[in-house]
Amino acid sequence: MTEPTSPTRPLVGRGAELDDIDELLSSVATGGGATVLLEGEAGVGRTRLVEALQRAAELLGIEVCLGRAVGPTAAPYAMLTDALLGPARGRDDAGPVVAELTALLEVLPRERSDAPARFARADELFAALVRRRGEPGPWVLVLEDVHLADPCTLHLLAGLAGEGALPRALTVMTMRGVPHRADLDVVVAGWTRAGARYLELRPLSPAATAELAQHLLHAGSIGPALRGVLGTTGGNPRLVVDVLRTAEACGVLERSGGVVEAVGTGWLDELDEVGRAHVQHLGPQVLTMLGQASVLGGSFVVGDLAALAGEPVTECWRTLRHGLAAGVVHARGDRLVFRHDLVRTSLYAALDEGQRRALHARAAWALRAAGAPPHVVAAHLERAR
Ligand SMILES: Nc1ncnc2c1ncn2[C@@H]1O[C@H](COP(=O)(O)OP(=O)(O)OP(=O)(O)O)[C@@H](O)[C@H]1O
Ligand SMILES: [Mg+2]
Repeated sequence: MTEPTSPTRPLVGRGAELDDIDELLSSVATGGGATVLLEGEAGVGRTRLVEALQRAAELLGIEVCLGRAVGPTAAPYAMLTDALLGPARGRDDAGPVVAELTALLEVLPRERSDAPARFARADELFAALVRRRGEPGPWVLVLEDVHLADPCTLHLLAGLAGEGALPRALTVMTMRGVPHRADLDVVVAGWTRAGARYLELRPLSPAATAELAQHLLHAGSIGPALRGVLGTTGGNPRLVVDVLRTAEACGVLERSGGVVEAVGTGWLDELDEVGRAHVQHLGPQVLTMLGQASVLGGSFVVGDLAALAGEPVTECWRTLRHGLAAGVVHARGDRLVFRHDLVRTSLYAALDEGQRRALHARAAWALRAAGAPPHVVAAHLERAR
């Protein structure tokens, strides 16, 4: 399998997004400013797309400043510092704004309330820095994973939105839908009002999923069993990569001619691990509810889950909206559908035997009361034994 960190790895299924990027870059190259909010579920490929953006910008000779968030408890302005004041940040390094800012950051306390005037000055200096950065030529500012940004960076970004797109800059903020943060909501709302483009990075299509697998395995095609397992990834590229790594590590891949197939069941427990790891960031309450939902199948009516869980429907929605925001389930009317069957089966497999039986018994009762057909109720009763 191709090493996922290799620079030669392919970017599959993102033709439309690459076209968008080219268009945005040419608009900033000709003097405009544009802002993009790039959102998508965990592992959907935001970072990979940003890498493609960096390469495209380099080809056009456009400077890219990239800052990554490491977590909300990082030092004040950590994300902007990473993007704008790192060792190779060129242009304005010797300027008085950078000098004052660098000195100021060294003496900032953790809390804004401990030195409000200093924080206000830091806000001013960062704002001046990003506004002036476009004077010598167009540039790209990428802020990766703003859902993990330090609060000072988010505060500043919210303030900047009031003046619209940064001059001569393509500003890209990437984010997951969870964890939910009120201070991020303010940033997103502000930039939305300022005309930012919202780009939801969707999972790969089945054809692109197969193409990615073929590339990674150097295969002409994929056998039906492996294709079936890849179908349970819902087109999430990280899940595709992890499934193939697991198959390889468990030794279940067999090649015949150009066809690669997965043989045997020796890797199913490991696959469950892949599914569980994918949703671990959601926390116990959401995972418990999704685990209960897994008993009802690939899609379920929220009212039935509420009856099964013994909770009011509104309470279930309150918990499930985190699963929705994370892209683990999606809504179809009053039904929710698991996006990746791999995740659903791993949550189901994580239930202990007694728990699983009790949940099937409750499911039978709830579905019968809701008027489900007898064979559906009977199937749950069968598993309750
Ligand atoms: N379009 C693609 N073509 C090929 N590989 C891809 C594609 N998108 C993502 N990948 C691969 O899938 C994995 C996850 O991608 P990436 O890290 O970009 O996701 P992400 O959305 O940034 O994840 P996170 O939510 O953890 O930040 C990586 O190994 C990456 O190389
Ligand atoms: Mg990423």
